Amino acid sequence: MKRVFSGVQPSGRIHLGNYIGALQRFKQFQEENEAFYCVVNLHAMTVPHDPQELREKTLELAALYLAIGLDPKKSVLFVQSDVPAHAELAWMLQCVTYMGEANRMTQFKEKSEGKDSVSVGLFTYPVLMAADILLYQTDYVPVGEDQKQHLELTRDLANRFNQRFGETFKVPEPKIEKVGARIMALDNPTKKMSKSAKTEWNNIAVLDPPSVIQKKLMRAVTDSENEIRYDPERKPGVSNLLTIYSLLAGKSIKELERMYRGEGYGRLKKDLVDVVVGEFEPIQKRYEDIRNSGEVEAILAEGAERAKEIAHQTLQDVKEKMGLS
Ligand code: TYM
Repeated sequence: MKRVFSGVQPSGRIHLGNYIGALQRFKQFQEENEAFYCVVNLHAMTVPHDPQELREKTLELAALYLAIGLDPKKSVLFVQSDVPAHAELAWMLQCVTYMGEANRMTQFKEKSEGKDSVSVGLFTYPVLMAADILLYQTDYVPVGEDQKQHLELTRDLANRFNQRFGETFKVPEPKIEKVGARIMALDNPTKKMSKSAKTEWNNIAVLDPPSVIQKKLMRAVTDSENEIRYDPERKPGVSNLLTIYSLLAGKSIKELERMYRGEGYGRLKKDLVDVVVGEFEPIQKRYEDIRNSGEVEAILAEGAERAKEIAHQTLQDVKEKMGLS
């Protein structure tokens, strides 16, 4: 059995891009693998944050994990800060990470651009991510395309550590889908859909009510032609809508192009509203039940215990290899 690890930050609004690029796939991966899914709250502190809000968002995201169908009997669901080994290993890995390679991380450049004061935590963020993954001797990491560079760093650090101190870490393989790993913003289909977007028209949150989903999709930017055709270069808006439709409805893009031959964008958008609402409405109902059940904390506490068992074995090995115990 292969081991899978992935995580999502409990910040902003969990959106359709997170759902298609990551969450929906977590569910598939839990069926045939030993899966660890983490709410990475330590990562969410790398930009200024409100403590009360972080606490709430952590529980919200855990409830969402459960609502989309992650099953605590199949997957280990836990919060990053409940397993101290993450922060400890991150320190050790920082000591084998070069400034130059950390400096090349494009997500840091994007997130720090134009800001006066940026935390050191934001800079070393990818090393903490490497620690998350390497602690569990992970085989596969399902993520969206924006995490590709962080996964390359993770692999480099694992290889370097193994060479320097002896075989310690499994070198993980990123699992990034060819289609759907980069869902674009609805209001600007040349940029990716993002949690930290300035306007709400950028994305659809998994918990948006149907009327909001409808408004946002009907306003999605397309182009001045009137042809429903997949062409990400020339028709990024329409292509993005087709990608979302295809992945949620389980229909190929070719099939959709055939279905909508001669139809206008309004029809495509209207049908897509039904598809997205059909996907999210049951999740929203389950989410409300789970949030009110008071079970989330207990599930996370049990998950943390199971995660700790494995994490501590790796950490112990690292400490011995590095001369710390
Ligand atoms: P985060 O919280 O920003 O995003 C969670 C997941 O959603 C994917 N994603 C997208 N996929 C498709 N289209 C989009 N527009 C889109 N936007 C986001 C992300 O690629 C991600 O898979 N650093 C990570 C969290 C993390 C992690 C880890 C992931 C921390 N430690 C260890 C895997 C393994 C992040 O900020 O994801």
